[in-house]
Amino acid sequence: MPECLRQPAAEEDRDIMISTPTSSRMEEACQELVLTPGQIQDVYSSLLAQINLGLGRATNAHATVKCFPTYVKELPNGHEQGRFLALDLGGTNFRVLLIQLADGDFKMESRIFAVPQNIMAGPGVGLFDHIAECLSAFAHAQHIEKEVLPLGFTFSFPCSQHGLTEARLVQWTKGFSCSGVEGEDVVRLLEEAIQRRGDVQIKVCAVLNDTTGTLMSCAWKKHDTYVGLIIGTGTNACYVERLENVELWDGSWEEPRQVLINTEWGAFGNKGELGFILTDYDREIDQHSINPGRQLFEKMISGMYMGELVRLVLQRLTKRGLLFGGLGSDTLAEKGTFFTKYVTEVESDTPGDYTNCRMVLEELGLEHATDEDCENVRYVCEIVSRRAAFLVGTGLAVLLNKMERPNVTVGVDGSVYRFHPHVHNLMCEQISKLIKPGIKFELMLSEDGSGRGAALVAAVASRTAS
Ligand code: GLC
Repeated sequence: MPECLRQPAAEEDRDIMISTPTSSRMEEACQELVLTPGQIQDVYSSLLAQINLGLGRATNAHATVKCFPTYVKELPNGHEQGRFLALDLGGTNFRVLLIQLADGDFKMESRIFAVPQNIMAGPGVGLFDHIAECLSAFAHAQHIEKEVLPLGFTFSFPCSQHGLTEARLVQWTKGFSCSGVEGEDVVRLLEEAIQRRGDVQIKVCAVLNDTTGTLMSCAWKKHDTYVGLIIGTGTNACYVERLENVELWDGSWEEPRQVLINTEWGAFGNKGELGFILTDYDREIDQHSINPGRQLFEKMISGMYMGELVRLVLQRLTKRGLLFGGLGSDTLAEKGTFFTKYVTEVESDTPGDYTNCRMVLEELGLEHATDEDCENVRYVCEIVSRRAAFLVGTGLAVLLNKMERPNVTVGVDGSVYRFHPHVHNLMCEQISKLIKPGIKFELMLSEDGSGRGAALVAAVASRTAS
């Protein structure tokens, strides 16, 4: 399996038929979830404005898109070498990896550990003790506990950095709420937890976001990669910006005069900028989340919320008598029961076939659904996932136009992008509509950017330090 799988270009597969709602009442009821070209244009302008505010020294405090400089300036050249540990925390799972980089080649051992709900919401010390415990178990199993291995820490939350090995958590996202971590340097918290155990030794060489890891892991193979994108539990993008545009830059001005910027675009909308396209469904998702009023763009797009958005629409349409003969189910009425993977499954049916759709509806206790209902359920899934793909495509067009590089590969990772049958093509379609003439782009699936990217950032750091 190659490191970065190239996805088919949009032109090869423009035939993304949206299923037909079976009545005009159904279509009307979903209309508010369909973005008009004018609305897309307004999202584009507003996001660009927030990014520019984020990059400005005097304006950063008011910006919703914070554009954190990452201190990663060099991209990999494909010749990085060495053995590295990587930690990857950013969703419901936590991973420890041991990565061997040899000229143009990767070897990797890894183990996944769950992050239980009580740890996600408990004291920060508990979280970092858990991480240290997993790391120690892994190091012992690999018989490397006596070595001091360089380590890259992928910590995928908004952090303000003042160097490659310091990252202060600004705010938790994606369902985490551990106390005592916001405002703190997560590298220090990690090192302290490891010292408390005293049975392994590490040397943290770099702390990074998953978008950075994704960009780096694609850039290792494809040297024109200048954007890293995640559409998974959360959504976010990073890109390579010229230092002269980064007023907050306090690092070295040595060549290359560029730095990766972690946009944290998931927070776009936090000051009401998306109010003109928010629906009641979006407001409900937001109100019932653990971070109301925050991460609005993310809540319209990412895997943590997509299934629930579909459920809310289905529930409302059922109440209005437009679905399932007006008869829902207890499961459908319960928050969180329509998983985002169901959206992928329903849309993976060939048009006119409802095999996956019926399986999903059975899980939800909706065996009484007719073929017409199945067609409409698919329509709702498509409406919600299209909106998400178009919003991400708009965000990418902003970055590509801003960079003005003639050829750019965008490294992409995350379960929604990886598994959804149409999101890739829909994003390409949207970007093509907004991109400046003369700019060519390609979206490339990054294989395990968070893990490999951590090793690459650590490797590039040691290469440039020596
Ligand atoms: C959330 C985090 C961000 C991360 C993204 C994707 O938006 O705040 O740091 O990159 O999720 O995992």
